[in-house]
Amino acid sequence: MVAHICTVAFQGVDVVEVDVQVQMGAGLPAFTIVGLPDKAVGESRERVRAALNSMGLALPPKRITVNLAPADLAKEGSHFDLPIALGLLAAMDVVPNDTLSQYSALGELALDGALAPVAGVLPAAIDASARDRGLICPAAQGGEAAWAGDLDILAAPDVLALVNHFKGTQMLSAPTARAHDIMSANTPDLRDIKGQETAKRALEIAAAGGHNLLLSGPPGAGKSMLAQRLPGILPPLSSAEALEVSMIHSLSNTLPEGGLMTQRPFRDPHHSASLAALVGGGMRAKPGEVSLAHRGVLFLDELPEFARGALESLRQPLESGRAVVARANNHVTYPARFQLIAAMNPCRCGHLDDPALACSRAPKCAVDYQARLSGPLLDRIDLHVDVPAVAIADLALPPPAEGSAEVAARVAAARSMQEARYKDDGILTNAEVDGERLEAVAAPDEAGKALLVEAAEKLKLSARGYHRVLRVARTLADLESNESGSRIPVQRQHIAEALSYRRVMPGR
Ligand SMILES: Nc1ncnc2c1ncn2[C@@H]1O[C@H](COP(=O)(O)OP(=O)(O)OP(=O)(O)O)[C@@H](O)[C@H]1O
Ligand SMILES: [Mg+2]
Repeated sequence: MVAHICTVAFQGVDVVEVDVQVQMGAGLPAFTIVGLPDKAVGESRERVRAALNSMGLALPPKRITVNLAPADLAKEGSHFDLPIALGLLAAMDVVPNDTLSQYSALGELALDGALAPVAGVLPAAIDASARDRGLICPAAQGGEAAWAGDLDILAAPDVLALVNHFKGTQMLSAPTARAHDIMSANTPDLRDIKGQETAKRALEIAAAGGHNLLLSGPPGAGKSMLAQRLPGILPPLSSAEALEVSMIHSLSNTLPEGGLMTQRPFRDPHHSASLAALVGGGMRAKPGEVSLAHRGVLFLDELPEFARGALESLRQPLESGRAVVARANNHVTYPARFQLIAAMNPCRCGHLDDPALACSRAPKCAVDYQARLSGPLLDRIDLHVDVPAVAIADLALPPPAEGSAEVAARVAAARSMQEARYKDDGILTNAEVDGERLEAVAAPDEAGKALLVEAAEKLKLSARGYHRVLRVARTLADLESNESGSRIPVQRQHIAEALSYRRVMPGR
């Protein structure tokens, strides 16, 4: 007899069903796993054997073959332990095979039979629910699986608990969906920042329309401080977005405490990050930082210090909202609709604009330093903002009256206006609108059009730059519409302000 149980493999965010078949036949005692297992799957033999031993069960002295079908799909990860163990238990008649076939299972086994958390429980649960099956997963991840909707979930602390459940001696209770708020009470507030009004305004515009932003200025001006305050003014994820974002975090096992994410992700990788760490891939296909920042923020501090290849790899996801990772035998795609916030010094010493402090190599050093950033990457950044050093007099002033809460309210209103506008277009923010739709929603008035045409020629704007100015202008008009309470079309002043953020970098 062949025992069957379903589990999953992942290709990007897509779930592929894997059938685990276990056969115990006559022949010399052996335990083989076939179906292109990687090292972790191959080693599961030892974990499964030890886990069964811990329950007082020994593998029968037979020729045991485990086949992971489809046989030509590479199987990666430690989540195959549990389905293999359950398949063996079914083949040994310890648990009923027909009951098992109604479930999909995934989990890693410890040597004492305990179930450890694994990546991908949420997508596996959603897939199981779509196939009208139940899900067996580690107890710690029951709260994550429960978000998939109305399906039968067995979240067990160990294999013994599962055996007892199937025997009916000790039933497992259904887990409840848990949300995890990654925003702690001590999220830094914009009120801490003295002066820097232009930069704060740019941060608000970036948050409202999902635009990319580059802050450039001398050391200690507050660039990193400003960027770290962005999560505090972004609206929380809608429930559809939360599920989308949590799916990706589930795949990389970064979902906090097994719950769903409700706050927008804010990823700030160090500048030593490799290309694979940023866009995904590597030995095992995993979502990179651009995908973990999906529907949230990717903050690259000290932008020119990143490896050139790593920065260039951002170009495609910045434009398409997807990261395509090529593997030896196929391509996997992860969603990567993120907002890029970057910070940099204008030159190596950082004091380009201050002759009293600048090094003797200025302005040559600035040209060299900024040349590390390619034109196409800078072209994708909508808002370029100078953050000058704060005046000491400003530092001594009392904190500003307006904090993150007030700005967040305006941002939320602008975002809901965009959501309503684009509800039939399948997009959410001004930063995503394209083509004809962009021309329809962001058509400037006559004066605005004349200014844009003139400025585009003078500033030598690319076609992308031209469209990006229109998108920012639309966000500016949205922010103004909120304040005035009426719908305002894109006007000359919006175009003018949007153009002011799109200037050429100093020293170029
Ligand atoms: N505008 C400001 N208001 C209040 N404090 C500030 C301001 N700017 C800087 N500071 C103080 O200086 C510290 C350093 O700021 P921050 O790390 O943001 O500088 P930076 O611009 O990122 O510098 P670098 O280019 O060296 O990374 C902050 O922790 C804060 O104490
Ligand atoms: Mg900094």
